[in-house]
Amino acid sequence: MLRLLPRFDRPRSAAQSGALQAIYDAAATGWQDGISRLGFIDAYAQLMRSAPSPTTPPTVLDVGTGTGAFAQAWIDAHGTPAALALTDISPAMLQVAATRLPVTQALAIGVGDEVAHLPPQDIVLCAHVIEHLDDPHAALAWLRDQLRPGGTLIMAISKPHWCTALVRWRWGNAAYTPDQAHAMLTAAGFTAITARAFTGGPPSRVSHGYIAQRA
Ligand SMILES: C[S@@+](CC[C@H](N)C(=O)[O-])C[C@H]1O[C@@H](n2cnc3c(N)ncnc32)[C@H](O)[C@@H]1O
Repeated sequence: MLRLLPRFDRPRSAAQSGALQAIYDAAATGWQDGISRLGFIDAYAQLMRSAPSPTTPPTVLDVGTGTGAFAQAWIDAHGTPAALALTDISPAMLQVAATRLPVTQALAIGVGDEVAHLPPQDIVLCAHVIEHLDDPHAALAWLRDQLRPGGTLIMAISKPHWCTALVRWRWGNAAYTPDQAHAMLTAAGFTAITARAFTGGPPSRVSHGYIAQRA
């Protein structure tokens, strides 16, 4: 038990210090199998099927894409986008995602960084990223700024549960209740916010889906 304590104490500034990037780089090879085993591929599919289907292929940006599972779920539900941009602080994660998806741009940048040559997007995706960041309000404002007015944000965010506490030992992430997430999205300038519960398995316990529009 004592050996686990240092993980509890990991500073939330890990995202800035580069420690988080190193952890995710090391996890990249097994990430897709891991989240599949835990039921996140099915959960992401469920969330994307509940999102509005665009009438013409939109531009899509997946922030903190990991191995691309969230973007893949969007494509499976709605078809190939007009352009697909991926960002992640982990080059190893991005590399896996870029081999799996019809990528237009893959950017090794973090939330809050300057994004060059990317117009305001129709759709922004972001699964299990803001809970890693010291300032989730600033992160949501940055996500908003990547969208055109009326554009759609689709998110999954960790929620409090004893299982989430176990995950926190390894990854150092925070967790937000649906009420907290709703309040943060509203404060960041999103409207038409809907919360979507996942129906089964670990995702139903540790995560929650959200769909919102930039005002
Ligand atoms: C829990 S994983 C989720 C990956 C993917 N979205 C998924 O659902 O499978 C978090 C991802 O966010 C990335 N990440 C962490 N901090 C970030 C930041 N500040 N900006 C962008 N990506 C970040 C990590 O490298 C990792 O790939």
